[in-house]
Amino acid sequence: MVERSRREVLLTGGALGAVGALAAASPAWSWSPRGSVIGEGDGLDPKAVWDPEADLVVAAVIDRGETAKVNELLKTWTKNGQPLPDGLPADLKAFMEKARQLPSWADEGKLDAAVNFNEKRGLYLGVTYGFVSGMLSTVIPREARAVYYSKGGADMRDRITKTAKLGYDVGTKNAFKPDGEMIVTCVKTRLAHSGVRHLLPKSPHWDKVADEAIPISQADMMVTWHSLPTTVMQQLTRWKVPIAPAESEGFLHSWQVTAHMLGIKDEYIPASWDEANAQAAQVLTPILGPTPEGVKLADILLNLADFVDGGHVSAPVLSALTRYTLGDEIAGWLKIRETPFWSGILETAWEPFIAVREGLLSLERAPGPVQKFYWLFDEILRLGVLLVLSGAKFPISIEIPASNNPN
Ligand code: HEM
Repeated sequence: MVERSRREVLLTGGALGAVGALAAASPAWSWSPRGSVIGEGDGLDPKAVWDPEADLVVAAVIDRGETAKVNELLKTWTKNGQPLPDGLPADLKAFMEKARQLPSWADEGKLDAAVNFNEKRGLYLGVTYGFVSGMLSTVIPREARAVYYSKGGADMRDRITKTAKLGYDVGTKNAFKPDGEMIVTCVKTRLAHSGVRHLLPKSPHWDKVADEAIPISQADMMVTWHSLPTTVMQQLTRWKVPIAPAESEGFLHSWQVTAHMLGIKDEYIPASWDEANAQAAQVLTPILGPTPEGVKLADILLNLADFVDGGHVSAPVLSALTRYTLGDEIAGWLKIRETPFWSGILETAWEPFIAVREGLLSLERAPGPVQKFYWLFDEILRLGVLLVLSGAKFPISIEIPASNNPN
């Protein structure tokens, strides 16, 4: 008997069969589009919605053998306000002209407030994007598998710097303005994701372990989105970092616009932090879990300090930081070894350290470990910033993949 792959089983059931199979594996979708940025929508389960407009065009580019030529041309397209390069295939060009438009609900005032937030809090954003969101992504099973078996999985450092580019660009002053780069980064990422949707189902490695027929559904994208702004804001709140309400809203808005520019449908983008937290509790928290691929990716991230920082912050400190921010269960899944000394230091001294940094507590009055390890905590923050900056350091162009990870 010929054994059918999971993908075939999912696909032969047609869209409905796929939804049924997926619904069995994860909780039913009940988040209402009334809580979205546009306040309405069809309410379709995003596990069975992808990005058809981009997917069709990119699949055609790949199938026509134009990927290398297109990637070469796209290298020259770097600024939001810049015309698209001549020579792009007509269907791709037409799609990109549309995809580069900001949504009608983009609010310049809120985006300016986000700039203030990023300037004031950039120091904490590096460590939360880099380690909290980065580590969390390794326990999002579908993301871990997609990342591991796609082309980028063969060179994780390159991939991390490319992803850091998005984290860097979203925080820049002119992110969505004509002289900024965030729109370009988002549109290129949208194309890269479409490429992955076309190619990854052909990977025998991915096919063996995947529980979906086509990767990067709208639900998958929202899960990853929550691992970024929602998780970052939850951590900053936990650390009692003072944040003005307008800046908190501005930060959310910059990520709402980012979601739209990445091809996430408006009806799935939460309108407020309350809605974001409610959606994250439904889509992110229940699906977290260990995979062999995620464990390997986490190990690479833990040793990343060597690459960006020459190893000033060692792997045991970063292990403790992961345990402190994401908890014992996730640290256990990732097989992160226990480092009780550093865990104890973080438990007692990290929050007071933030209070000292924020001028809310004097160093003299802070607990002993804060005084003793202030330099180390500063190094952790610096490492986070360096990690995000690594996305700006090299001339990075996000590309449409032409193949999967061969390994
Ligand atoms: C590529 C960000 C959602 C899997 C990228 C890139 C960025 C990015 C910046 C380009 C970097 C590169 O080419 O290496 C994001 C953001 C997301 C999101 C901000 C959501 C808000 C997802 C999801 C998955 C995923 C849900 C999988 C389940 C991938 C893969 C690549 C990629 C496999 C291509 C790597 C390659 O070239 O092989 N993403 N992503 N992403 N992303 Fe995402």
